[in-house]
Amino acid sequence: MTESSGAEGRSLPVGELLDAARGMVATAYVPYSGFPVGAAVLTEDGSIVTGVNVENASYGLTCCGERNAVFTAVGQGHRTIRAVAISTPRAPGATPCGACRQVLNEFKPEDGPLAIILDGPDGPILTDLETLLPAAFGPRDLD
Ligand code: THU
Repeated sequence: MTESSGAEGRSLPVGELLDAARGMVATAYVPYSGFPVGAAVLTEDGSIVTGVNVENASYGLTCCGERNAVFTAVGQGHRTIRAVAISTPRAPGATPCGACRQVLNEFKPEDGPLAIILDGPDGPILTDLETLLPAAFGPRDLD
């Protein structure tokens, strides 16, 4: 699978996102869990921004790959995430943790789904944030 059409009609570069996520796995900093995660987010303008999980001797300070990718994108000026691809060779098909789902929710598109692409054992698994985090609390609730 290389291209997939989102519900809003725009195509997603599924293969490119997955390749970017897989390409990051090797640089994950995981001395405590040995569980590397590579992530790649697609921004509104088509940019792909990557991240890895970074652990810490004070375990609770660990930050997931998905969040690091989102935070890097935000630091570059992006404010909308259209898709995220996640590669975790130790657990193919694993879904993002609750904290990452909430962070992704902050930057989801106003006009369509935020696609989630999981690197599964038999190829990409496609889902979306609404499925993984229904009835989410988000910035619009504060208006
Ligand atoms: N991890 C992620 O990077 N993303 C997730 O969605 C789940 C967990 C990381 C955190 C920690 O470094 C390791 O995986 C084991 O939990």
